[in-house]
Amino acid sequence: MTDLQRDVLTGFESRFNRRPAGLWSAPGRVNLIGEHTDYNEGFVFPFAIDRRTVIALGLRDDRLIRVASSFAEEAIELCLEELFPENLSGWSAYPLGVAWALGQFGANLGELKGFEVFIDSEVPIGAGLSSSAAIESAVAVALNDVWRLNLDHRTLARVGQLAENRAVGAPTGIMDQSASLLGRADAGVFLDCRSLESEVIPLGFDAAGLELLIIDTKVSHSHATGGYAARRASCEAGAGALGVDSLRDLDIDDLPRAAEVLGDETFRRVRHVVTENRRVLDTVRTLREQGPTAIGALLDASHTSMRDDFEISVPELDLAVETARLAGAIGARMTGGGFGGAAIALTPHALVPAVTAAVMAAFDARGFATPDIFVVHAADGAGREQ
Ligand code: GLA
Repeated sequence: MTDLQRDVLTGFESRFNRRPAGLWSAPGRVNLIGEHTDYNEGFVFPFAIDRRTVIALGLRDDRLIRVASSFAEEAIELCLEELFPENLSGWSAYPLGVAWALGQFGANLGELKGFEVFIDSEVPIGAGLSSSAAIESAVAVALNDVWRLNLDHRTLARVGQLAENRAVGAPTGIMDQSASLLGRADAGVFLDCRSLESEVIPLGFDAAGLELLIIDTKVSHSHATGGYAARRASCEAGAGALGVDSLRDLDIDDLPRAAEVLGDETFRRVRHVVTENRRVLDTVRTLREQGPTAIGALLDASHTSMRDDFEISVPELDLAVETARLAGAIGARMTGGGFGGAAIALTPHALVPAVTAAVMAAFDARGFATPDIFVVHAADGAGREQ
């Protein structure tokens, strides 16, 4: 048993005075490339990381639900009858939102038994590594088991997304939950967000002597408010003005026409999504044909597009990316929804200390908060642990 698993077991036993039915876990994710493309029915290429949320869960004999976690003093109690998105708030909206969303995918919440759950996580919160999807995915696989729902992981990703959209109120896409549920060790999840077909593709970082560095800028962001929803609205407006269902229907060749029809800002939002979809396809092909040392320029181009066209970067992310490249990273970009969070830097193993030191020094010189810099590896997706 890992320390985290032991802590979760102890946490459950001390809160609920009994043994759980089992332990389940789900990872956070990092997106290698394909940003703000998921809700435009485009392509993404994230991977599950070796930082996990672990939960202990046990069914009750009645219809009460009790959720507790290492990050809140109080346990939250609710009856299955009261399980509606409008009754949910705070951190418990993630696990309870999943229980509600399962009801939208066939679980008969009118008859099922309640449960107790204890949650702990090593996925940093607010770093853009999908700590929320990790909670949702862990709860989804656990309830799928104990309620005997037989939903596949692809469907559980939609359950997690629905919980996030309706119970948490963040208008996010399907990427994070898909990565957390479908990830595999040393591989990325190439996902078509229109068909929801996915393919697991070996990354080969280790064999190529590369590490993926996370630079958590500590600039906090929220996708339930502000910029994220505004970007999504711009994309929908652009698609509407161009007469397509979603931006997925546009290709690079359509951009000259888009430039004529759309105002400058909407055009640049559209151009980001259209070119980013192309970059995801190019990254997957390049990875297959030439290996990971050849994908650096695509990562760099993705960052430039997010900074200048989609305008979701912040000075800390730009500094992290530029400094990492100058110190030897072969490619770097901000990752996740933007407005804060983390950057990634694909870095030769031997240069990790130099890149880390350079970014630390640059942040210090600019008077930015000290970033958290660490290596992640691609890991298996959500499942039962014990
Ligand atoms: C957040 C959302 C995802 C996706 C990314 C941007 O992580 O949860 O659905 O839209 O932002 O690529």
